[in-house]
Amino acid sequence: MTSLISVSDDLTFALSNSHFSYVFRVSPEGILEHLHYGGPLSDPLKVARHHRRTLRHVASTFQGGKYYSLSDTPQEYPSFGTSDYRFPAVHGRNADGNTIFSLHYVKHRIVQTKPKIKNLPSARGGDSETLIITLQDKLHRLRVELNYTVWKDHGVISRSVRFKNLSDKEIQLQHAFSSALDLPAGEYEIQHFHGTWAREFNEERTPVPHGRFVADSARGTSSAAHNPYVAVLQKGTTESYGRCYGTTLVYSGNFAIHVERGEFEDVRVLAGINPFNFHWRLKPGKGFSTPEALHAYSGEGLRGLSHHWHDFIREKITPERFKGMPRPTYLNTWEAAYFDVDENKVLELADKANDIGVDMLVLDDGWFEGRQDDTSSLGDWRADKTRFPSGIPDLAAKVKAKGLKFGIWFEPEMVNPRSQLFENHPDWILHVPGRVSSLGRNQLTLDLSRTEVQDYLFDEIDAVLSCGDIDYVKWDMNRNMTEVGSAALPRNRQRETSHRYILGLYKLLDRLVEKHPNVLFENCASGGNRFDLGMLSYMPQGWISDMCDPIGRLSIVGGASYLFPLDVMAAYIGPSPNHQNGRVSSIRTRFMAGAFCSARGVSLSEAEINSHESEIVEYMRFAKETADDMIGGGFDRVKNTGNEIAWQYTTADENTVYLAYFHILSAPNLPFRRTRLVGLDPNAKYKLDDGQSEIYSGDMLMESGMPMPQVGTGEKVPHVRYMPDGDFSSHIFVFRKVTG
Ligand code: DGJ
Repeated sequence: MTSLISVSDDLTFALSNSHFSYVFRVSPEGILEHLHYGGPLSDPLKVARHHRRTLRHVASTFQGGKYYSLSDTPQEYPSFGTSDYRFPAVHGRNADGNTIFSLHYVKHRIVQTKPKIKNLPSARGGDSETLIITLQDKLHRLRVELNYTVWKDHGVISRSVRFKNLSDKEIQLQHAFSSALDLPAGEYEIQHFHGTWAREFNEERTPVPHGRFVADSARGTSSAAHNPYVAVLQKGTTESYGRCYGTTLVYSGNFAIHVERGEFEDVRVLAGINPFNFHWRLKPGKGFSTPEALHAYSGEGLRGLSHHWHDFIREKITPERFKGMPRPTYLNTWEAAYFDVDENKVLELADKANDIGVDMLVLDDGWFEGRQDDTSSLGDWRADKTRFPSGIPDLAAKVKAKGLKFGIWFEPEMVNPRSQLFENHPDWILHVPGRVSSLGRNQLTLDLSRTEVQDYLFDEIDAVLSCGDIDYVKWDMNRNMTEVGSAALPRNRQRETSHRYILGLYKLLDRLVEKHPNVLFENCASGGNRFDLGMLSYMPQGWISDMCDPIGRLSIVGGASYLFPLDVMAAYIGPSPNHQNGRVSSIRTRFMAGAFCSARGVSLSEAEINSHESEIVEYMRFAKETADDMIGGGFDRVKNTGNEIAWQYTTADENTVYLAYFHILSAPNLPFRRTRLVGLDPNAKYKLDDGQSEIYSGDMLMESGMPMPQVGTGEKVPHVRYMPDGDFSSHIFVFRKVTG
């Protein structure tokens, strides 16, 4: 492997591969000064030679350096109080009450094996190099190690920080960001994704304002309100044009991504743990590691940026043992029966699952001691004796005897006040003495920072999984945290609780996935309230939203696809009228909105299945037949007019191309429409798999476009030639590359 990191004698550092170059240097003042992040440079170290500083007379100068102010110096890890007034990456105070930090270069090293981050998930190394730069604050005696990893084949760079207190007094960290990225002055836009329950991943584009834009969470989870993903885009960026810088975190708790436009038009991106309500007491000799931040760069618009993320998440984030593994189709009991589940009902649904040809039966909420609605029993993870008299292992074996896989639901992090667990351990919840603990969905949050809570949950879940017949676990989490405090932490460490909770959650997950490596875990938090790369490090797929109305879901899947590959998404055909928004839609469109997700299924009552059985069988057959294809391929958003959406999915071997077309509201007498495909081989021929064997050339499909159907039911009506499909129609084209 040619070297990915080069260093000049005068300490300029260049991290480069065929996708980007990232360059910075040690300034004459000993500060890490950022020089370039963008397209790959043939001689990246030369950037330093062309670097010029602006002479200013108004800014404060840095520690006596004539004309040198940090306020317009692009930096790698900025602090506050020594001439930079922007939001700092590191901040806090030492035992003397001194809040000014000043970090200077000490040394660096390059390692071929990517170091793991203590107690936190992080991207896998391999074909990568890591640069570790040591900085030090001489007064505080705080050592700061900046880690940068660059991979040979990925347009992504990773950053994390390790602090160590070398002094003999405590240092309190308040800002401990994982990464700072200072981009040069320019016209930029922000792309970010906001939402709420059942309305996740709404894309918003806004000019980078003067001042500060913040996407963050203080809810304990990364949250649906603001997914931890922000891209800074060259103004006017489209799917195929523009320089784009995406930032995300391998973290599932309170995060913050700041974008600040300074007085000199430069733009600073900070990513890491949310400094709001966070303090970490760093005792003498102790260390603290930040979560990992990831940045991706594309010079060719959002399509290129998404492809970098999709490839990277598949290759370096989701568990390796599930890589390339097709996902089972399934019948989930939730919208089929809600809490009205018992052994007979589950076995009947298992028969129904076989009738419609799916691979797995998933028993969702409602199976454990006393759980008949959402007011009780979370925490008591033993099967309800009246409804499941022979227990879960026996039920799992019976379902498996029918030739199906078996999956089960847990919501481990929660407890209802009406439960055995709460009666026995009322202090195991997150709480603040003297404050009423707010309920969310009638439940309280367990204090996962505590080892005894982690151990209890491990034992309970392990006891169920150890029967050996559980193939899949849906790991749910249905409320945001309030009154966050831990009975196990001293008064002056209470603001560490949220981060310690996440460390506890990761520890529990580490133990469970290590003990049960073949169980497929699906991440869920009322849908997408914790859909992030931290959770994906343990669970290769996620339930992205409780919104199963196809029109509601289109924007959710489309929005999430800017960062996430569809490999990590699960989707099912839910009831109509939809239980979240009341919309009536066809089985076809309900299936199609999730057709390119890797995990596809059904959550319908027996009666609903019976009345549409032949269609459901057809779609589940399609899902099974395409299960191999829907892992590892390329996803593209090829059209979005608001009323029309088209998505393209190209299999990893590039031999099959799927095009899904959604027409939301019907209208008469529409213009003739085409959709242009992307990324095909212009010289190849593609045969349309519609029984008519029409052949198209790749260049024709990309340049002229595929004619969209005049969607019609075929039914004859007086005076018009056909009956239009009506609202919420969808169509799929399957193209096979003609070989030989
Ligand atoms: C919320 C999830 O998002 C749903 O799919 C379902 O599992 C319920 N919780 C069960 O309580």
